[in-house]
Amino acid sequence: MFADRVLSGMRPTGRLHIGHYHGALRNWVRLQEQYQCLYFVADWHALTTHYEEPENIADTAWEMVIDWLAAGLDPDRSTIFIQSRVPQHAELTLLLGMMAPVGWLERVPTYKDQQQKLADRDLATYGFLGYPLMQGADILIYRANLVPVGEDQVSHLELVRELARRFNNLYGREPGFEDKAKAAVKKLGSKKAKRYEVLRTAFQERGDEAALAEAKALLEDTQNLALGDRERLFGYLEGSRRVILPEPQALLTATPKVPGLDGQKMSKSYGNAIFLREEPAEVTKKIRTMQTDPARVRRSDAGNPERCPVWALHQIYSDEATRDWVTKGCTSAGIGCLDCKQPVIDAVIREQGPMRERAQPYLDDPQMVRNIVADGCERARELAEETMQDVREAMGLRYD
Ligand code: TRP
Ligand code: SF4
Repeated sequence: MFADRVLSGMRPTGRLHIGHYHGALRNWVRLQEQYQCLYFVADWHALTTHYEEPENIADTAWEMVIDWLAAGLDPDRSTIFIQSRVPQHAELTLLLGMMAPVGWLERVPTYKDQQQKLADRDLATYGFLGYPLMQGADILIYRANLVPVGEDQVSHLELVRELARRFNNLYGREPGFEDKAKAAVKKLGSKKAKRYEVLRTAFQERGDEAALAEAKALLEDTQNLALGDRERLFGYLEGSRRVILPEPQALLTATPKVPGLDGQKMSKSYGNAIFLREEPAEVTKKIRTMQTDPARVRRSDAGNPERCPVWALHQIYSDEATRDWVTKGCTSAGIGCLDCKQPVIDAVIREQGPMRERAQPYLDDPQMVRNIVADGCERARELAEETMQDVREAMGLRYD
C-alpha cells in the first residue's frame, strides 16, 4: 500500500547450511537490490515449539545473523532485527487475537501436521495454536506487501490475508466515510482525481481488476497524502472501509531442493549438512565421502545421475557443459565419482570464499553484530509504532 516492502523471518537455528542459502537466504540478498527489506530473527516463534529448551536461543540467533551478513545481507540496505526486541509484535498479536476465530487457526494445515510430526513434544499449547497469528502480526505491523517464504508457509499467508481483511472490515469503519473519502479524492489534484474516479467505477461496476491495479499504483505514486487519507482512498476503491492493514502476498521463488550428504533433506539435526562457512578442507572431505548412485559399486559400473544426490548439487553449481560431461561420463562409466565431484567441490569453495571473508570482521569483533542489530531493532520499532498508533486508535484505545 506504500512503496513495496519485503519482510521475512527465520527461526534462530545457529549455523546455516547451503540448503538455507539456496532455499531462502540467497533470494533475500537479491531482494535488497530492488526493495526496502526487513529481515528478522523469529525467536518467539522458536518458543512455540521449543519452549522446553530455551537455553540456546540467543547464541543461535547471533550465529545466524553472522551467516546472514556473510551471505551478503547489507545492513545499510536491509533492516536486520530480533523479533522479541520489538515488543509491538506482541501487542499486535494480542489485538489480532481478539478477533481471530479459533477455527481459522485450527484449520491451518501445519497445525495438525506439526503436532503429529513433533509427537515427542506437547504442542497442545495456546502459543503453538497462535503461531500463524503471530506471523500475521510480524508482517502486518510493517504493512509489508511482499513476503518471501517457502511452499510450506503459503497457507499461513492465506490466513494472514484473511485476518487483514477481517480487521479492516471491523475497524476500518468510520462515521462519514464517504464524505471523507470524497474529500481525499479532491486532494489528489484534478487530473489524478478524475483518473481515480474512472478506475474506481470500472472496478466497482464491471469488476475490472486491471483498473483496480492501476488505481492502486496511482495511489502508491502519490507522495503527499496524509496516512488517514491514504487508507481511505485505498479502502474506497473496493468498498466503504479504510484499509488499515494491507493484505500481503507470498513471494514464491523457484528454489532448488538441496540434498544432504546422505541424499535425505539437508538438515543440521541429520548430521548431513554442508555449512555456509565451512573450511575448504572440510567441504572437500564431506563431498568426497558423499553418497552416490548405490548401483556404482565399482569404478567400472555405469551409474544413473537421477539416483545420485551429487547430481542435485550439479544442478545448482554446474553449467550445462559440466552437466553434459557428468551425464555422459556417469552412464558410460567414463568418469569416476571422485572426478564427478571435483567441480562441485570447487564451486562450493568458490561460493563460500567471499562469505568467509565478509564474516571475519564480525567474528573478530562481535560488538559489530550487536550494533547492527541494535540499529535494526530501533528502526523496526519506529516503523512498528507507526502502525500500532493507527491500530490502537481504530480499536478504540486512544487516550490522549
Ligand atoms: N514461520 C516462518 C518459518 O518457520 C518464520 C516466520 C515467522 C516468518 N514470522 C514470519 C516468515 C513472517 C515470513 C514472515 O519459516
Ligand atoms: Fe553420482 Fe557423478 Fe558418481 Fe554418477 S558419476 S554416481 S552422478 S557422483
